[in-house]
Amino acid sequence: MFINPFKKIKHSKLDVVEVKNLTFYYSGSSRPALENVNFGLAGGSVLLLVGVSGCGKTTLLRSIVGLVPKFYAGKYEGSVLLNGKNINEMDMPEISQYVGYLFQNPDNQLFSYTVERDLAFGLENLGVEKSEAIKRIDEIIQLLSLDGIRKKPIYELSDGQKQVVALAGILVLRPKLLVLDEPTSLLDPRTALSIINIVKMLKDKFGISAIIVEHRLELALEISDYIMVMAGGSVKMFDSTRQALRNRLQDYGVAVPPVISVQRELMCDPLELTVKDFVGRLHAR
Ligand SMILES: Nc1ncnc2c1ncn2[C@@H]1O[C@H](COP(=O)(O)OP(=O)(O)OP(=O)(O)O)[C@@H](O)[C@H]1O
Ligand SMILES: [Mg+2]
Repeated sequence: MFINPFKKIKHSKLDVVEVKNLTFYYSGSSRPALENVNFGLAGGSVLLLVGVSGCGKTTLLRSIVGLVPKFYAGKYEGSVLLNGKNINEMDMPEISQYVGYLFQNPDNQLFSYTVERDLAFGLENLGVEKSEAIKRIDEIIQLLSLDGIRKKPIYELSDGQKQVVALAGILVLRPKLLVLDEPTSLLDPRTALSIINIVKMLKDKFGISAIIVEHRLELALEISDYIMVMAGGSVKMFDSTRQALRNRLQDYGVAVPPVISVQRELMCDPLELTVKDFVGRLHAR
C-alpha cells in the first residue's frame, strides 16, 4: 500500500521562509553573527548554505527555527517569516510543525530508550492523540524503511541509523521545511548519501523544502536548487546552483568538487553536477 503522510504540499505564493534585514548579535558580543541577511526560498526548493567556519550558517538556521532569539538571547533586528507569518509571533509548538531542525549530531536529538518511543516523543509533547500518533509513526517507519529497528534501543544503532531516526522524529510532525545543519558530517560517504537521498525523496514526492549546510558539495549539488554563500555574517551570493558554481566560490573558502573545476577549465556549458552526468556527456559526443 502506498502511503503519503504529507500529501503533496500545496505551495502558497508566499515563500516557505523569508528573511528580511536580519541582524543578530549574541549577548555580550560586539560583532554581529548575522548582518542584514535577506533572502527568500520558494516552496518545494532546496537551498545549500555554504561558507567558512564562523560565517553565521548555524546562527541563521537557529533564526529560521526560532531558537534565535527565543533561546539564544541577543540584539535582534529584522524579521523571519514562515509562510508569511512572523516567527516571533509563533510559539515553539507551532514552529516545530512547520519547520524541522536536524542537528549535526543525532545524540543531541534522541531522548528516548527505543526508536518507537523516540518517534512518539515530539507528538506527545504536542498533545497529539494516541491513535493519530500511532498512525503517523507507522507511516514514517514505512516511508523510511525503519521496521527492522523500530523496537531497538537507541544505543544499539549506528550513527547513520541514529541520524535517520532523528530525521524520522522530525517528520512525524509533518513539517513543510527541513533545516539540516551538517547532517552528514559524522557519517561515512555512503551513509551520508543515504541521508541526502531521503531529503531528495521528500522533496520530489511530497514537495518538502530544505535548507542544508553541507561542506561536501559533491553530496548536496544533486539535490540543491540554489546555493547561498555567507561570509562574516552576511550573504555574499544567492544563485541557482549551476550559476553559483560558475563563480569563484573558492574566494569564500568553499571547496568546489573536482568534476566542477574540470568543467570550468574546459568551459563546459551547461555544467553537469555529477561525475556520472559528466561522463555521460563525454560519451555522448
Ligand atoms: N551561542 C553563542 N554565543 C555567542 N557567540 C556565538 C554562539 N554561537 C555562535 N557564536 C558566534 O557567532 C558567529 C557565527 O557562528 P556560527 O556557529 O553561526 O557559524 P557557522 O558558520 O555555523 O560555523 P561552523 O561552520 O564552524 O559551524 C561566530 O563568531 C561564533 O563564534
Ligand atoms: Mg555551524
